[in-house]
Amino acid sequence: MLAMNKIKILGTTVIIIAATIIISSCKDKRSTGWEYAPNMYEHLAYDPDQKNDNFKDGKTAQVPPAGTTPIGFIRFDYANTKDGYEKAGLEYKDTIAASNQNLADGKILFQHFCSPCHGMSGQGDGLVVAHGFPAPPSYSKGQSSRGGAMKDLTDGKIYHTITYGVNAMGSYASQLEPNERMKVILYVHHLQTL
Ligand code: HEC
Repeated sequence: MLAMNKIKILGTTVIIIAATIIISSCKDKRSTGWEYAPNMYEHLAYDPDQKNDNFKDGKTAQVPPAGTTPIGFIRFDYANTKDGYEKAGLEYKDTIAASNQNLADGKILFQHFCSPCHGMSGQGDGLVVAHGFPAPPSYSKGQSSRGGAMKDLTDGKIYHTITYGVNAMGSYASQLEPNERMKVILYVHHLQTL
């Protein structure tokens, strides 16, 4: 008796599964079949890649108006050229406070990202240099390959270097956000005095 019941239950389950597969697969190929809670897929808001008659160009994803700056975005409109470097050196000034906290944060970031080459005290004697990587000039005693003493590098020249890199040094733009770059610069200024 019990065995009969088991077979019945099994049979019914197989039929239900087969029916579900048949019903849900026999529809239009582009259809997603029966959807549970369809308003989760077909919501009222426009998708960014959806056509949109409310705008002249018919697109939902609109380009920001010319000359606008997104909230929280810090501009650095200097090209990756020698001219851009010199111009940034003259015009650009960091906008964070030279507080102990910012300096302490800058020290940690410097030790993580820069000290492998520049060394803990910025003398150009980091660990990878000990393994044969070309030594960067000392921040306090060296000469910049782009002219002038390293100790005289301004906010803008250092920011430009972190953003774009220079020769053997790569860009750190994807590792450090603008305000983190500023904190590192605070610490580099400290190392320039050693
Ligand atoms: C992979 C090794 C390496 C790392 C990591 C590195 N640098 Fe450098 N850096 C160099 C080398 C090499 C130079 C010298 C390049 C040249 O002038 O030819 C240099 C040059 C510089 C200069 C001088 C630029 C100039 O105008 O002459 C600054 C400032 C500087 N680095 C800052 C940083 C900071 C800040 C970091 C961390 C965010 C960093 N570097 C990380 C290798 C590195």
